[in-house]
Amino acid sequence: MIKLSSPFALAPMAGMTDSAFRRLVKRQGGCGLVVTEMVSSEGLVRGIDRTLEYAEFTEEERPVAVQIFGGDPEKMARAAQEVEKMGADIVDVNMGCPVPKVAKHSAGCSLMREPEHAAKIIKAMTRAVSIPVTVKMRAGWNDREVNAPELARMLERVGAAAIAVHGRTAAQCYTGRSDWDLIARVARAVSIPVYGNGDCIEPTELLQRLAETGVAGVLVGRGVLRNPWIFAQAAAVSAGQPAPEVSLADRGRFLLEYIDLLLNQRLNEPMGFRHQATTVDIWQDDEAGLAQDTAEDIGRACENGGPTFRPDESLAHAYPPARGRQRWVINKVRALSAWYTRGLDGGSHLRVAINQTESIPALRQTIASFFFR
Ligand SMILES: Cc1cc2nc3c(=O)[nH]c(=O)nc-3n(C[C@H](O)[C@H](O)[C@H](O)COP(=O)(O)O)c2cc1C
Repeated sequence: MIKLSSPFALAPMAGMTDSAFRRLVKRQGGCGLVVTEMVSSEGLVRGIDRTLEYAEFTEEERPVAVQIFGGDPEKMARAAQEVEKMGADIVDVNMGCPVPKVAKHSAGCSLMREPEHAAKIIKAMTRAVSIPVTVKMRAGWNDREVNAPELARMLERVGAAAIAVHGRTAAQCYTGRSDWDLIARVARAVSIPVYGNGDCIEPTELLQRLAETGVAGVLVGRGVLRNPWIFAQAAAVSAGQPAPEVSLADRGRFLLEYIDLLLNQRLNEPMGFRHQATTVDIWQDDEAGLAQDTAEDIGRACENGGPTFRPDESLAHAYPPARGRQRWVINKVRALSAWYTRGLDGGSHLRVAINQTESIPALRQTIASFFFR
């Protein structure tokens, strides 16, 4: 049994919730649990460089759940053992990913269509490890196959320690709204903790969902990419205090620290990583495609910023273009900025400017001139 300091948790998001981002979110306060990006059970069992790095976490992130995906019970059990060996607090199973690359291999959300098989996986895992095995699922496969309450009950019987539910079907992908009535039904159907998930953008929404639905906690994804202070703000409101204000300068510092943490991931130190991939082909893995596509969609939707920011175009050519790890960091900041700039006055201009920067110094200056005006 793991005791969490807060009922609010950072949802797993491929391409986004890397260790650096998770550390920064934890540092703002109010976050009880972080979950890694999803990693492949196959990659863990075979010891693939990139997979091992994706599963990395640092001590300050604890408690931390490593999320794995896959469809073979034996491999999932062995992958869970790898996760346990790494020292993770929880191993979480992805039963929500709708991306065909993942779902077509009896993994991700397609496991919701094969409840017996899903139960076999969880049973094999709970027998193989002593850390808690949790599951993140959707409402169901499509609106004719909404089975989250039944599946949750089955998985509870084979030893799942907690369930998180994103209240959309795989067919909905990210359209429509997360069905919190269904999430409440799942919470009533089982006696293990249920975390609700979907569409919480304002800190007060986290408290409202918690109060109204009987869930043990709320998992937040995109709301944190826009506002990494959302947990701290919800915690303050819950304690009867005003939500702490976040200034433009705070937001700028967050991005600069994110760059520094990504650039300086340390190896073989007590607070650092045990494993870092030797290559930097960040968009090569399955789920990252979802991250990139979704980030770009949302990016297009936020073309409503004010005309308050004019990027310095000379910056684009002032430094040689970044390569290797620095290029990877620039791509990561671009991906985050698609969400992070949403709702900011002039945010769409900033996003364009960030997308045009080709070097770390230019990126830092672009951020500084927007946020430290
Ligand atoms: C860019 C992106 C990547 C995601 N990657 C994962 C993942 O690796 N594993 C997972 O279970 N869910 C993943 N999700 C789904 C989120 O965890 C969450 O269920 C969903 O975004 C709904 O919650 P929200 O409205 O708070 O964002 C991802 C979502 C986004 C937007």
